[in-house]
Amino acid sequence: MIVRNWREIQPWLFEGDAEDWRIFSQIGKKEKEDYMPIYNRTAVCLKTILYLSYARLHPGGAYVAHANIDEGQQSEEIYCFINGRGTVRWGENDIRKVSTGDTFYTPGGQIHHLINDGDEWIDFIAWGADVTEEKIRPGVVKNWRTSHPVLWHGWGIRWRMLDKIGNNPEDGSIPCQRVLNYADYCWLQGESSCEPHALQGEEAVFFIISGKGVIRVGKEKEKIRNGDAIYIPPDTEHQLINDHEEPIQLFALGAGV
Ligand SMILES: [Fe+2]
Repeated sequence: MIVRNWREIQPWLFEGDAEDWRIFSQIGKKEKEDYMPIYNRTAVCLKTILYLSYARLHPGGAYVAHANIDEGQQSEEIYCFINGRGTVRWGENDIRKVSTGDTFYTPGGQIHHLINDGDEWIDFIAWGADVTEEKIRPGVVKNWRTSHPVLWHGWGIRWRMLDKIGNNPEDGSIPCQRVLNYADYCWLQGESSCEPHALQGEEAVFFIISGKGVIRVGKEKEKIRNGDAIYIPPDTEHQLINDHEEPIQLFALGAGV
């Protein structure tokens, strides 16, 4: 069972002003030396997903423009906003406002830049996957509120924000991802439990935005709370249990292995 809270991890400064807590890393991935000191404190468990980070950017701060290219390997990347508002820019001319509830998708090799021009801290999670791109594609902004809700394992609700290219979603999600299967915002009401299930040939990561409960993965059970990230290995039965009155809000991301 792998559950980690970002508060237990030492941050590093990502190119610019953002503090980044790397929660999960990929098995066998060679990490850059500048965050090697904290590398040992991340859980190395991911197969297809490259990493999961929690990040904060102060008002007036900016991520410098960067492209997700590491030693020639490109990666697609998703930022899911928990708090705050800002401006994202892809390339020179594609500029959009982003705020709480938004997720934005950056294709492999695309240069992107995030500025906190609001009055509050921006809190977000970031994750990615290695891709092969034929050409530079535009970025995507999607708010979960503009998708249709769908029942989530019996008792929860999910809003799919992003989907894989080739899928033809009817829930309003945007199919833009090459390797990642989905990015969902989910909600589990108080005092209820998802039906136990396993994901065939797919790993998943949950990030708990708010609420408290219990996660069961295989035979193991662990308490969870806001700020926790949970790794769900492929083909493993799991169940999210809300044993409190307040709802659990989370982001869920999946990828084939
Ligand atoms: Fe990035």
